[in-house]
This record gives sequence, C-alpha cells and structure tokens, in this order.
Amino acid sequence: MQNQKTGKNTYGDLVSPETSLSREKLHGNYKSILGESAGHLEVLQQVDMFAKSSQTVLISGETGTGKELIAAALHAESLRGGHTMVVVSCAEIAENLTESELFGHERGAFTGADQQHIGLFETASRSTLFLDEIGELPMRLQPKLLRVLQENKIRRMGGTAQIPVSVRVLAATNIDLKEAVAAGKFRRDLYERLKSLHIQLPALRERREDIPALAKHFLIKENNSSSRKVADINSEVLLLFDAYSWPGNIRELEGIIGRAVLLAEGSEILPPYLPSDVRTPQAHALPSADATAAANPNAAEYFVLPFPIGTTLKEIEKSAILATLARENGNQSKTAKSLGIDRRTLHNKLRDYNM
Ligand SMILES: Nc1ncnc2c1ncn2[C@@H]1O[C@H](COP(=O)(O)OP(=O)(O)OP(=O)(O)O)[C@@H](O)[C@H]1O
Ligand SMILES: [Mg+2]
Repeated sequence: MQNQKTGKNTYGDLVSPETSLSREKLHGNYKSILGESAGHLEVLQQVDMFAKSSQTVLISGETGTGKELIAAALHAESLRGGHTMVVVSCAEIAENLTESELFGHERGAFTGADQQHIGLFETASRSTLFLDEIGELPMRLQPKLLRVLQENKIRRMGGTAQIPVSVRVLAATNIDLKEAVAAGKFRRDLYERLKSLHIQLPALRERREDIPALAKHFLIKENNSSSRKVADINSEVLLLFDAYSWPGNIRELEGIIGRAVLLAEGSEILPPYLPSDVRTPQAHALPSADATAAANPNAAEYFVLPFPIGTTLKEIEKSAILATLARENGNQSKTAKSLGIDRRTLHNKLRDYNM
C-alpha cells in the first residue's frame, strides 16, 4: 500500500503513483488472475517479489478473495514450479487427520500403525506445501510446525531420525490471526514466523473497478460450460453490482453470474435474474427495519440488520450468518450458498461462535 504522505510503498522504496503499478512491469504470467485495480496490482507485484523466495508467505483475505489462486501463482512462479504443489486444509487436519498426516509415522508408532506412512511434509519435499485455513491448525500441532519451519527437518511419529526436507510453505487464512493470537487460539511465535512475508488480499468491495471484467469473464466461462449464449450484462446490473457489498467476494460474483446465465431467457443478464439482496440496494445499505419493510411488500424475504457505527465487521458477519441461517430454517447448505461461501467455511464460522 502506498503511503500518501511519504510517497513510499510498504517496502520503503520511493514510487511514483502513476507508473509504479502496471502489469507490464511484472515478471510472472498472471493472465488468469484478472484485475487492474491498484489494490489488485499491488497484490500481483507482491506475488512477483515473493515468488522466488523460499520463505513462508502468509496470504490473508476474506472468503472468496482468491487466496488459493494467489498461492497457485506463487508456486507456479517459484523455482519449484515444475513440481506439484501439495495442498492441505488445516480444518481437515483438525477434524479428521492427525500429526501423522503432516509428519508421517513409523510402523508400530501407535495402535493401528501397521505400516510406515510418509507425511505431507516429506511428500512436498522439493516443492510447495500450501497450508490452507492455517487458523484452524490445532494448538498441539502449532509448535511442531514452527519447529519444522525453523529447522527444515521432520521427525516421523514413533521415529528417531531427523529427516531433512526442503519445503516451501504457503499459508492462507480468512480469519484475523492477530485476533486469534489475542484470543489465545493461535501461537504468537508461529504467527510472527508466518507473517514475515504477508499478502493481504483486498475484498471485492475494495476493488469495485474490477467487477465488470470479472463478471464478463465468469459470463464467458458459464456460457462455455452450459452451452448457453448469454452475450451481455445489462448496464443496470453493473450498477447494482457496484452498489452491493459482496460478502462472499469473487466466488459470490461467480455464483451469481452462473445462476443468472441459467435463468436468462434472452441474450442479456437483467436485474430480475439476480438474487433479491443484490437487486435491492436497501437490503445491503442496512436501513432501518421500518424503511425496508415499507419498501418491500414481500418483507419475509429480507432480514434487516441495522448496525450502529462502530460495530466490528466480525459482529456484522456473525449477525448476517445467523440471520441467514434462521431464514433458511437452519439448512447449512442453503445458508452457505446464499452467503456465497462454501459449506466448510460456514461450518468453521459456526464452530467459532460455539454453535
Ligand atoms: N483475480 C481473479 N481473477 C479471476 N478469478 C478469480 C480471481 N480471484 C479469485 N477468482 C476465482 O474466485 C473463486 C474463489 O477464489 P479462491 O478459491 O482462490 O478464494 P479463497 O480466498 O481461497 O476462498 P476461501 O477463503 O473461501 O477458501 C475461484 O473460482 C477463483 O478462480
Ligand atoms: Mg480457499
């Protein structure tokens, strides 16, 4: 991010705002990663700078902002790009997998360990290990991960040998790790280690200039996969997109275009093919309950969430999730779909709220 007062970027270099950010100046090939907004170009510039390093990169951003896509780009542009990136969701480790999944085990390490098992760190040796949803990594595994990052060696469960590994770790999170550290849910030392190279992805509402190009891209993609011929997006639709808050970010946009293409009867996406909360500016401008009820004869469709200024985004997110869950009669799949997030993300958030 450029500092307005000093004219310096985050790295202390003097930059001129007009010429500093452009795709032409990037070394990597990021054609599939769309966007020309300043916030997005800064992300690509960081990908460019960090890709060749073997250090850990932390990628943070709200759900659907493209963290996995950026991780894939970092890997592809790295010196390890010729190998396959190993992807693991730490939420799954928390639920189903164990220490042995990450670090492996020797035969007889525990009851049922009747064969040696090679863990993901060894599998990813000479390549990249992408630890998605790092905020979900169980506390008991956090010091072990930190040790591997520091020593570049693993010890299989039940084994004594220190096995050297050459793994470049990328980690992603959609929760605020700083808050998780403050809440005692994430170790400070691991957080400090992870964040030395940090890419913060902007929310879609912070890069609205990119919405038309992204929408067009998803339109072409959906036409191709469903053999439909919806050529255009009506300008009124683009205005509604510009006013919408996009809690599910780019994934939500993709879902909305996909649905609209299937609903479209002519060759253009029109406002009626959009979900009601995108179509109705009141619903996301958080008006008073009375105004929205008056404006919407079909009031049962809307849950109005008025928030006093100063409410944290986290609290707003929680209210939005709980209200949607209530509207969908507790159906998590429908709730996740309506919020533009995946079911697992919803599940994790509900667990955070102790529900
Ligand atoms: N800049 C972009 N250009 C084109 N497509 C994008 C861009 N960013 C994200 N997408 C697409 O948006 C969707 C969501 O991206 P991705 O899965 O990387 O998000 P995420 O941040 O990992 O989300 P989550 O936190 O829910 O896991 C994907 O289909 C991805 O291809
Ligand atoms: Mg992801």
